[in-house]
Amino acid sequence: PRDLPRDLPRVLIARRVPAAVAERAVREFDAILAEHDLDADEALRRVAETGAVAMVTGPRVRLTAAHAAALPPTLRVVANTSVGYDHMDVAATKAAGVIVTNAPDVLTDCTADLAFMLILNACRRATEYAAVMREGWRKGYGMPDLLGLQVSGRTLGIVGMGRIGRAVARRARGFGMKVLYQNRNRLPAGLEEGAEYVPTLEALLPRSQVLSLHLPGGAAGTLMTRETFALLPPGAVFVNTARGSLVDEEALIEALQSGRLFAAGLDVFRKEPDFDTRLAALPNAFLTPHVASATVETRNAMGFRALDNVAAVLAGGAPIDPV
Ligand code: DGY
Repeated sequence: PRDLPRDLPRVLIARRVPAAVAERAVREFDAILAEHDLDADEALRRVAETGAVAMVTGPRVRLTAAHAAALPPTLRVVANTSVGYDHMDVAATKAAGVIVTNAPDVLTDCTADLAFMLILNACRRATEYAAVMREGWRKGYGMPDLLGLQVSGRTLGIVGMGRIGRAVARRARGFGMKVLYQNRNRLPAGLEEGAEYVPTLEALLPRSQVLSLHLPGGAAGTLMTRETFALLPPGAVFVNTARGSLVDEEALIEALQSGRLFAAGLDVFRKEPDFDTRLAALPNAFLTPHVASATVETRNAMGFRALDNVAAVLAGGAPIDPV
């Protein structure tokens, strides 16, 4: 019971987590489990009320510089269950003396799987095929009708060749695609996954029949605009499992409506969970609700990784994944 004194450090779990993660949190810490996903104001209020020394959090907790300036003095670590941390002002939080961690590695394969699912579904008109079946398949389609794009033999451009970009490159090779990548720096040959380095986005885009983004949001700004979409070859496919902030959605919708883009596969949007519902009405858009890491194994691993980081800091050591 919460009102019995315990020697374990008090940790606020500010978002709902899978049962296995909650069980471990309660075993290892004096854990306070949020009954719903808290926003930053609620989370910090709970930390202040309870004297928690650590907070396990995620993208819903948008911790601004103003929040960081008013962090409860007991708080020592903010452990994200996500690999992304563009939802928080990391510099301001660290300047307040609080350690910030993220959860890399554990969601790499899961996210790459979903990116590939989007590539396949966008190229092969999955939204339209599913609609035909839901509507009762009232007519037969002839040889030239409802044709998709062949994935094998196409060229995939990857922007951001970190862990996830490389995992997508591996999958693409298995599907017989040619892979190009653009990244801040060229990778050592052993990490290139057989992909060809292209030094600039401007050089990558015209060669990318399929383009997939794998870079963090935040500092990168809006990478895909009217101008950059126009650099893709006509009939290209665009895939985003990274961040909605990287894309001008108005420009994307125009490119999909005009047929300039053959299709898009999107897991992330600018204003989640709100999104521009014109996208949902487009037959050539295949959409998922930011679920690239949503498997039992990966969500457990993300929660455990955040708890590992909390434990490392509270034991007086360095975090495993400092941001
Ligand atoms: C991440 O880990 O950054 C994913 O986008 C889930 O939030």
